[in-house]
Amino acid sequence: MNQVGDRIIETENLVYAYSQDQEGETRALDGINLTITRGEFVVIIGRNGSGKSTLAKHFNALFLPTVGTVRINGMDTQDPRHLWKIRQTVGMVFQNPDNQIVSTTVEEDVAFGPENLGIPPDEIRRRVDLALEWVGMSEYMRHAPHLLSGGQKQRVAIAGVLAMRPECIVLDEPTAMLDPSGRREVLDTVRRLNKEDGITVVLITHFMNEAVLGDRVVVMDAGKIVMDDVPRKVFSQVELIRRLHLDVPDVTRLAYELDSSGVSVPRDVLTVEEFANALCGF
Ligand SMILES: Nc1ncnc2c1ncn2[C@@H]1O[C@H](COP(=O)(O)OP(=O)(O)O)[C@@H](O)[C@H]1O
Ligand SMILES: [Mg+2]
Repeated sequence: MNQVGDRIIETENLVYAYSQDQEGETRALDGINLTITRGEFVVIIGRNGSGKSTLAKHFNALFLPTVGTVRINGMDTQDPRHLWKIRQTVGMVFQNPDNQIVSTTVEEDVAFGPENLGIPPDEIRRRVDLALEWVGMSEYMRHAPHLLSGGQKQRVAIAGVLAMRPECIVLDEPTAMLDPSGRREVLDTVRRLNKEDGITVVLITHFMNEAVLGDRVVVMDAGKIVMDDVPRKVFSQVELIRRLHLDVPDVTRLAYELDSSGVSVPRDVLTVEEFANALCGF
């Protein structure tokens, strides 16, 4: 097995300081060692200011390390020769869908990325059609993006990234500004891309019910990784999660409260279905 080939994102002792003054540097990232394997669905959580967005921006060379190394498919992000290949490999989706709209129709918007890559027009056409189909937005092809709902705008933003044929998508709180149905639309799309098309997903979220969808949950605090495990292992540590000013999924919290007050239920349930099954066992 080719080990390097399996690692799509790799950071080694990654330190990032926004500013260095006489007072010394403030480290937004303080020694991050993280490996993400091809095909994984990794969720990153952490309180505000813990460094999640700063880390995400290193994954497609928007930011370069102050100290340490970031490699994408083995390519060092510090090497300018790799910049375009890296940007093509890792696509980014941000929080505010309005900031990601660049054109007056949905199809032009999705075509923007591949146009910048210098892809021939007929290939762009095929990619745009396919990307819109993937996110379920084909019928809106000629619509004005700014008139769409938040969830639809984010799906168009995802299509724009998909049209560049990335191997990995990094989404930085893509559902933060959406209503519950918009959130579901985006999450369903992201899951499908991972499970059916094998695209590596890195999802930053502050919704713990979304975090349980990951194969792995990475917890950040003060620029460091403080937990990195499967969701069940992470969220069963309710006290630790709370000390980090985070919450656990609603169902896990309920199970924890019940168990603490003497009603014996398993503490590591993550979904409503699991909880129902556990209760039916009585
Ligand atoms: N543009 C910036 N200039 C200076 N400091 C920043 C800037 N952006 C973020 N920071 C600081 O870096 C740290 C990490 O921020 P960020 O990566 O945005 O965290 P998160 O996405 O987890 O909320 C915070 O302490 C924040 O104040
Ligand atoms: Mg952020």
